[in-house]
Amino acid sequence: LAFGEFDLSALEVGKTIMVDWRGKPIYIRRRSAAEIEKESQVQLDHLRDQEADSDRTIKPEFLVVVGICPHLGCVPLPNAGDFGGFFCPCHGSHYDVSGRIRMGPAPLNLEVPPYKFISDTTVLIG
Ligand code: FES
Repeated sequence: LAFGEFDLSALEVGKTIMVDWRGKPIYIRRRSAAEIEKESQVQLDHLRDQEADSDRTIKPEFLVVVGICPHLGCVPLPNAGDFGGFFCPCHGSHYDVSGRIRMGPAPLNLEVPPYKFISDTTVLIG
């Protein structure tokens, strides 16, 4: 299946779900206004892989990232780690609530898959 359509209307603020897209785990987190504000204020020169939060989301309320650690391919845990986003227990990579690498060995941020919204709360991945 090239595309995956997911209804996010029941996803609570602050929660993360995992969906499957072409055999890959995809995390979708519904972010609070405070989380969005915090991530938007992170200075790019504090980041190893310098991407603005606004360039990583279509609707800031929903973060959509591939759940595969760019270090050596483990699946990070959601809502975990020192930066509140994701934590990869294999070698200790910490990601923020934008899925950006903040501490640990991963060289890159969690990948953002191709996606778009086909309604306010329905996302089409692929
Ligand atoms: Fe995630 Fe090594 S595979 S930190």
